[in-house]
Amino acid sequence: MRTYLVTGGAGFIGSNYIHYMFKKYGDEIRIINVDVLTYAGNLENLKEVEDRKNYTFIKADICDKDAIAKIFAENDIDRVVHFAAESHVDRSIRNPEVFVNTNVMGTAVMLNCAKAAWENEDGTYKEDKKFLHVSTDEVYGSLPDDETAFFYETSPIDPHSPYSASKASSDMLVKAYIDTYKFPANITNCSNNYGPYQFPEKLIPLIINNALQGKKLPVYGDGKNVRDWLYVEDHAKAIDMVQEKGKLGERYNIGGHNEKQNIEIIEIILDTLQEMLPEGDSRKELVSRDLITYVEDRKGHDRRYAIAPDKIKEEIGWYPETMFKDGIKLTIKWFFENEDWMKNVTSGDYQKYYAEMYK
Ligand code: NAD
Ligand code: DAU
Repeated sequence: MRTYLVTGGAGFIGSNYIHYMFKKYGDEIRIINVDVLTYAGNLENLKEVEDRKNYTFIKADICDKDAIAKIFAENDIDRVVHFAAESHVDRSIRNPEVFVNTNVMGTAVMLNCAKAAWENEDGTYKEDKKFLHVSTDEVYGSLPDDETAFFYETSPIDPHSPYSASKASSDMLVKAYIDTYKFPANITNCSNNYGPYQFPEKLIPLIINNALQGKKLPVYGDGKNVRDWLYVEDHAKAIDMVQEKGKLGERYNIGGHNEKQNIEIIEIILDTLQEMLPEGDSRKELVSRDLITYVEDRKGHDRRYAIAPDKIKEEIGWYPETMFKDGIKLTIKWFFENEDWMKNVTSGDYQKYYAEMYK
């Protein structure tokens, strides 16, 4: 039975990936989820799988060499899927240091431990061992408002925020292990994800949550920054396909071919909420375009991201399957059905973060 070591599996994309993998492979695989449970890690995301015999959760920090080496020593790990990171750009602008620690140092620990466990004496590797580093399109910097410009795997690395700089650094480390040690790894650079379990510091869940309570909807700058949105389950599928069909040592961009201005996203969410809320639901009166509030711009705000997912389509056969109009309905439906999840994650520290961030 193949054993996966998933880091950051209690976060947004990691938990969706674990659900995807169990749906696809059932009892054929074993998953060990290693997560230190920061504010963004939530074991509630994994309630449905926690009793499975082929699932194990280990609370550990990826920066803790001994803890990670012990996991490799005690388990014959075949695949590493490395999600664990500090992931929010605004937080990185306020406090860069933790981003360097987790995203750079933590990745170095993961690489070293996997290499030590998998390498033979002659420098080759045990058969069928693979490491996948989950990264972001933000490492490529920003594109102009020109619809013919895209990020390709060959685009220069040009990060602007402390978050994207830390992810670019971790990508470079993985590349160095591939080039120097022939380490069996891939890097994926994905565009903005949305879907169930996303923490409401990110645009889409924040807007859904605020709109349903009649709270202001903060739009940075002129609202015309463009992001390329991908439904999270499509990302989970892409990661699995890259690991199984991709060429080792290669980088693959993953994108939704779904570029939208932030203000468009907000308007679509408001219209979809109106459409989906039943007549007589008191929240229907709260959801309104009057809530849209332009606020100070994010420092160093990247203007436009857009991925050309040509390589992954041609080499591996992956393409984004979920249209935004469908993905956003699935997402809103999930938030309607999981009000307690939202209440739990927005109590406590979130209130402090929100008050400070949007003061
Ligand atoms: P997230 O913030 O929701 O989850 C991160 C998870 O990592 C949390 O469960 C957290 O507890 C865990 N973690 C943080 N520091 C840790 C440490 N030191 N040791 C162990 N666990 C730790 O993030 P996400 O949005 O799910 O993103 C996952 C990965 O995908 C990240 O590497 C991110 O850079 C990348 N990515 C995200 C997006 C996106 O749109 N969200 C897009 C492209 C790439
Ligand atoms: O592109 C991939 C990246 O997407 C990932 O690597 C990051 O981990 C992920 O957080 C995301 O980064 P962004 O900065 O693009 O996502 P965020 O949801 O924070 O913001 C999306 C856009 O919306 C961005 O242009 C900023 C804007 N925004 C965001 C918030 C939270 C607002 O206008 N108002 C807000 O309140």
